[in-house]
Amino acid sequence: MKVLVTGGMGYIGSHTCIQMISAGMTPVIIDNLYNSKPTVLDRIEAVSGQRPVFVNGDVRDKALLVDVMTSHKVDAVIHFAGLKAVGESVQKPLEYYDNNVNGTLVLVDAMREAGVKSIVFSSSATVYGDPASVPIREDFPTSATNPYGRSKLMVEECLTDFQKANPDWSITLLRYFNPVGSHPSGQLGEDPQGIPNNLMPFVSQVAVGRREFLSVFGSDYPTKDGTGVRDYIHVMDLADGHIAALKNVGTKDGLHIYNLGTGIGYSVLDMVKAFEKACGTTIPYKLVDRRPGDIAECWADPAKAKQDLGWTATRSLDEMTQDTWRWQSENPQGYPEV
Ligand code: NAD
Ligand code: UD1
Repeated sequence: MKVLVTGGMGYIGSHTCIQMISAGMTPVIIDNLYNSKPTVLDRIEAVSGQRPVFVNGDVRDKALLVDVMTSHKVDAVIHFAGLKAVGESVQKPLEYYDNNVNGTLVLVDAMREAGVKSIVFSSSATVYGDPASVPIREDFPTSATNPYGRSKLMVEECLTDFQKANPDWSITLLRYFNPVGSHPSGQLGEDPQGIPNNLMPFVSQVAVGRREFLSVFGSDYPTKDGTGVRDYIHVMDLADGHIAALKNVGTKDGLHIYNLGTGIGYSVLDMVKAFEKACGTTIPYKLVDRRPGDIAECWADPAKAKQDLGWTATRSLDEMTQDTWRWQSENPQGYPEV
C-alpha cells in the first residue's frame, strides 16, 4: 500500500511513517517544513532503513498534490498537515482556517481528480469541548471554544458531508487524546519551536535545564489532586492506530470515527512524578492559576477502536516518560538544522 502522508515530517507523522515502513507500507511525504526540519528524513531512514520520498510542498497546492498522487500511484492519504497551537489560533484565525480547513478541501479535491478515495484525518479530542462526563465516547456531542478546535470540527463536518455524497469513499476521523513520548531509539521526538504549549515538552525542557520550573495551571480542579487530568497516549501507539485504520480502509467504505486514547487519566502531578522517575532528578514546579479554556478532566473510551480495528494502546506511562527523556537528553536542542 502506497500512502501520501501530508505533514509526514512532523511529530506524529514521522513516527507513523516509521511504523508504516515496518508494516510493509510505503509512505510518500508532502510537507512544507513550516513546523519541522529536513533532518527528520535522515532520522526516519536511520531508524527504518528506508528513505521515504519527500516532496517539499504545501497541501494548498492542488496541482502539485494531483501530480504526486498520480505519479506515485498512491492508494490512500493520511492527512496530518496543519497548524496546532491553540493560543496562536486565537491570534491568527485566518491562518488556521486557511491551512486546516482550506488545506483539507484542496487535498480532497485533488484526491478526487487523482482517483484516490481513502483518507485518514488527524482530528482531536478538543472536538468534545468540555465533556459532560468521562470516559468520552465517539457519540458524545461536539463543540469548539477556539479557532483551532473549530477548524478540526469544520473539517470533520465537511468530510462527513462529502462522504455522504460519495458513499464509495472511505473516510476515517481519528480523534487523538494527548500524544506524548518518542521513538524508543531516541532519534525522533517532539521538537516544538519556542516555548512549549503542551505539558510533556515543557516538563522535559525543565528536566534538561532549558527552563527553570514548570507552572502547573490550576490546583483547584475537582480531581484527585486538584490538577488537570488527561489521557496521555504514547506516540508509537498512536502511530500504530493509523496502521490499523489504513488496513481497515482497504476493506470498508464509509465514515469511521475513532478515539485514539488509552482510557486512563493521569493528573499533571502524576506526570511530573513519572518524569522525575525517568530522568532521576527533581522537576521544580509552581502551582499557578488555571489556564483559560482548560477543562478539569478528559479521557477516552477506546472500546470502538478495539472492536472495529483491533487496536489498543499498549505502552505504559513509564515508557512514555522514559522515551521522552531519552529523546530530550540525547537531543537537548531538538533536531539539528541540517
Ligand atoms: P506537527 O506540527 O509536528 O506536524 C505537522 C506538520 O505539517 C509539520 O511538519 C508542518 O511543517 C506541516 N504543515 C503544516 N501546514 C502545512 C501545509 N499547509 N502544507 C504542508 N505541510 C504543512 O504536528 P503534530 O503534533 O505531528 O500533529 C499532526 C496533526 O495531528 C495535526 O493536524 C494536529 O492538529 C493533529 N493533532 C495533534 C495533537 C498533538 O498534541 N500533537 C493532538 C490532536 C491532534
Ligand atoms: C491542548 C489543547 C488541545 C489540543 C491538545 C493536544 C489547549 C487549551 N488545549 O490540550 O486543543 O488538542 O493540547 O495535545 O491548549 N499544563 C500545565 N502546565 C503547562 C502545560 C500544561 O499545568 O505548562 C497542564 C494543563 O493545564 C492540562 C495538562 O497539563 O491540565 C495538559 O496540557 P496540554 O499538554 O497543553 O494538553 P491539553 O490542555 O489537554
